[in-house]
Formats: sequence, C-alpha cells, structure tokens
Amino acid sequence: MRVTVIGTGYLGAVHAACMADIGHEVLGVDIDVEKITALGEGRVPIHEPGLQEILGRTVASGRLRFSTSLSEAAEFGDVHFVCVSTPQRRDGLSCDLRAVDAVVDGLAPRLRGRCLIVGKSTVPAGTTARLAARVQELAPEGTNVEVAWNPEFLREGYAVQDTLRPERLVVGVMSQRADQILREVYAPMLSDGVPYISTDPATAELVKGAANSFLATKISFINAMAEVCDATGADVTTLADALGYDSRIGRRFLSAGLGFGGGCLPKDIRAFTARADELGVGGAVSFLHEIDEINSRQRQRTVDIARDMVGGGFVGRRIAVLGATFKPDSDDVRDSPALAVAGAIHREGADVRLHDPEGMDNARAVLPMLDYVHDVKKACLGVDLILHLTEWADYRRIDPAALAVVTPARKILDARNALDASLWRSAGWTLRAL
Ligand code: UGA
Repeated sequence: MRVTVIGTGYLGAVHAACMADIGHEVLGVDIDVEKITALGEGRVPIHEPGLQEILGRTVASGRLRFSTSLSEAAEFGDVHFVCVSTPQRRDGLSCDLRAVDAVVDGLAPRLRGRCLIVGKSTVPAGTTARLAARVQELAPEGTNVEVAWNPEFLREGYAVQDTLRPERLVVGVMSQRADQILREVYAPMLSDGVPYISTDPATAELVKGAANSFLATKISFINAMAEVCDATGADVTTLADALGYDSRIGRRFLSAGLGFGGGCLPKDIRAFTARADELGVGGAVSFLHEIDEINSRQRQRTVDIARDMVGGGFVGRRIAVLGATFKPDSDDVRDSPALAVAGAIHREGADVRLHDPEGMDNARAVLPMLDYVHDVKKACLGVDLILHLTEWADYRRIDPAALAVVTPARKILDARNALDASLWRSAGWTLRAL
C-alpha cells in the first residue's frame, strides 16, 4: 500500500520506518526541513534502540522517502497516518490539538479520489468525529475521504519492537471499508496473531487515555504504599514482588521510586480529566488528580531525604546527580522527575554535577546552570552525596568499592530502588532509598 506518515517526530519516525519495513511504500512528511533532510539520509535524530538499523535499511531499499510537502502527501497516499504531537496546553491540563487540526486543514483540500486519514496521536474523545466533519467540508467534490483513529501504545526505548510486535491493535472506524484498509495495512501483524480490536472512534480514543491512566495509577499506588512502608520500616520492593505474583495484579509498573514523567503519562492523565470535566463526568475520574499529586510528592520526598542526608541544607554542598532522562534507554527529558529534582536542589543552593549516558544535551537545554560531567567517576569526585535518579544499567554496574575511593563521604540516595543496597552498604556506603 502507499502510506504517508505526517509528523516525523518520535512516533512518526518509528511508524514510517516500521510501515516500510513490513512492505509498504512510505512517504514521511514534516514541516521541519532539518529533520526531513536527516531522515532522508537515513540518519535518526533521536536515541531509540533499533531505529537506526531499520531506517537505514528501508531508506536504502527506496521504500521509505521523506518530504516537506503536504501536496505530495495528498497525491501519494492511500492511507495517511497523522502522527503530530498533541502537547499540553498552557492551562497545564487540556490537550493542544493545533498541530492535528493544521494537518487536516492542509491535507483535506489537496486530496483526490479515495483515501483514509488515520490519527495516531493521543487525542481527547470526540476528536475523530470533529475532524471527520471538517474533512467533509474541506475535501474537494468527488473525493471519498474517511477518518479513523488508531492509537499508539509504544514505549520509548522499545518503540520499534512495540510497533512491529504490538500487544494489541486498536482501530476506531466509521465504516467497514476503513476497517478493511487498516486490516490490510497491518496484515503481517494480524497473521502473527496480534489481537485486533475494531470499534467506534470514541472508544478507540478513550482506550489510549484509559491505558495511560491505569499505568499512572499503578505507579502512584505503589509509591503511596512506599510512603506507608517507610513509616513502618517495611520494604516496598518485597511488597511489590509479593503483590505481583497475584496474576490479577502483575508485577510490571509496580516499581516504587521517583515516579513517572515523560511526554505522555503526566500530560495524558491531565488531558483525560480535563476532557471528562468538559463532558460533565469529571467526578468519575477525580482520583486522577490524586494520582498526579502522589507522583509530584515523590520528587519532593527525594529532595527532602537528600537535604536530610547532607545535614539539613544544600548551600555549599556538592551533589552528583546520576540520570537526567525520564527513564533509561531514552534521551528524552520532558517532564523528567530526575531533572525536576536536580533543578530543585540547585535552587536551594547545591552545587550540582550531572551525568547521564544519553540525555546531557537535552538536559543542558533545560537547565544550563548545572555542571555537566561526561564521566561518572569525575561527576562523583569529592561530592557530599550521590543521587541516583534514572535507573540506567550503567549505574547498576558501578563498583561501589572503586567509587568510594573518589567519594570519601560515601553517601548515596537511590531514588529508583534499583541498586544492590547490600553491595553498597558492605562497601561502607550509607545508602537510602525511597
Ligand atoms: C507510556 C506508555 O507506557 C506507552 O504504552 C504509551 O504508548 C506512551 O506512554 C505514550 O502515550 O506514547 P513511555 O512514556 O515511553 O510510555 O514510558 P513508560 O515506560 O510508560 O514510563 C513512564 C514513566 O513511568 C517513566 O518515568 C518511568 O520511570 C516511570 N515508571 C514506570 C515508574 O516510576 N515505575 C514503574 O514501575 C514503571
């Protein structure tokens, strides 16, 4: 099939490369000339394991091309995937749909013949219906254009794998024809037995918000339990293991610590509640405010414990921060809990040396006043305290005995509960965890 992917950011770049990899002819479109040039030369502008290989392969094969022209997209595609971002609005709650609207407004008048526009971005319930009406207004006479929604569930760090072997495909369609087209697009996944849920657009839109709300709830639940554990001397990791053996609960997303961040979970739960408010059912999901609140509290708890570990104040204290990204295997620092903590202790007077394997450039753009150190040992040289804020595998491999030589204070706060506490303690470290 001839597929266009409009918006080649994180989601779109991965989707375009994967669609080409499963055999479609793909045109990736974006307004960012620099990005399009890089992608067209087979260069990936983000850190995502496996993406470089698949992009290089599909660009070289000629099945994947890039362009900045919506007219070219309109002429080329049987199916147009809309993958532009839907960030949080300035109100800190609702979803900004200007990029999605601009794509539809730009594309629809240029369309010819029959085609399907498929949204993949995370949007409030009701968006597909609204856009479908808009397309009917704008598309030239004689065209037959439909709109469908196909939310994306990929995780950063596993994006290629999640796209090629998803746990499920969800499509919200208004006709059998649209359903049939999407079954063709995803035929290789369907023949691998991937569950395919075909439903109405509102349900498909809601599945995404509900899934992210559930994941956020799971994380805040275990973080709430961690606070209770701390008050009683209990161990939240063992508690989570014990809960996780119950197959109705499951162990995944029960890792207590600094909490969730990134470009999705925090903004999605806020947009979900904002939309529920608009629909007059805000009360039904008001618990999500509490989920958000528990999450923010972990950042404050980390700062409080760190302050306590350096004697009650940060002024004049040297602190090494290990980790800047919102999670490991990503260079993304959007709403990163690690950066929030680093910024907070810097504001309280700490001299912060920050290390991250992939996220230093992005972190520097947000917090230019910190010291960025490319080597863990150098970052920890002579510091009063180390904060372990993002659980990169590199940090788990640190030898605490070797590090103790350069860090005589031997104090570490493991805000991700990911280090081997007994190993560190037996090397003479004072280790506290959340
Ligand atoms: C999330 C969802 O997991 C994806 O399914 C969804 O497609 C994506 O948002 C999206 O909406 O686009 P992602 O933002 O890549 O994916 O990150 P996650 O792996 O979900 O992690 C989110 C945050 O939760 C991270 O900050 C992580 O450190 C934190 N987390 C995760 C915990 O604190 N504890 C856990 O047990 C798990």
